[in-house]
Amino acid sequence: MTDTAPDTQQQTALLHAALAARQRAHAPYSGFRVGAAVLDEAARIHAGCNVENAAYPQGLCAEAVALGAMVVAGGRRARALLVLGDGKQLVTPCGGCRQKLREFADGATPVLLADAEGVRQVLTLDELLPQAFAPAHLEAR
Ligand code: THU
Repeated sequence: MTDTAPDTQQQTALLHAALAARQRAHAPYSGFRVGAAVLDEAARIHAGCNVENAAYPQGLCAEAVALGAMVVAGGRRARALLVLGDGKQLVTPCGGCRQKLREFADGATPVLLADAEGVRQVLTLDELLPQAFAPAHLEAR
């Protein structure tokens, strides 16, 4: 499986979905809102925001929520993921979310780092999570 980078129209759709999701973030503890959007195998877009919790470790990252939305909609393949946060520095998915994404993507899958103006950087999942533990490890048993 190889994913080509989403085209300009898809990038714009991902950006708008992530921006709208970020507005709905539940981030009363950190005050740091994050939006994410996933492009699935049917070119559908699924968005997520971070959902924090008074029991801090129970909070969810935006990427995890977006991947969950994809799964519940019947999507099984993440062709690309876009993430954007608050603040000046580009948000990259946390370690746990890199692993969560790897379940539905492969090393070549593009991860788009964005701000409100657009996509600023594109990395592959392999660059973010080299030598990942992946479903293939279990298939090779
Ligand atoms: N957060 C995300 O939603 N995604 C990331 O990739 C990094 C961090 C959230 C978790 C927490 O709600 C807030 O940002 C501050 O860490």
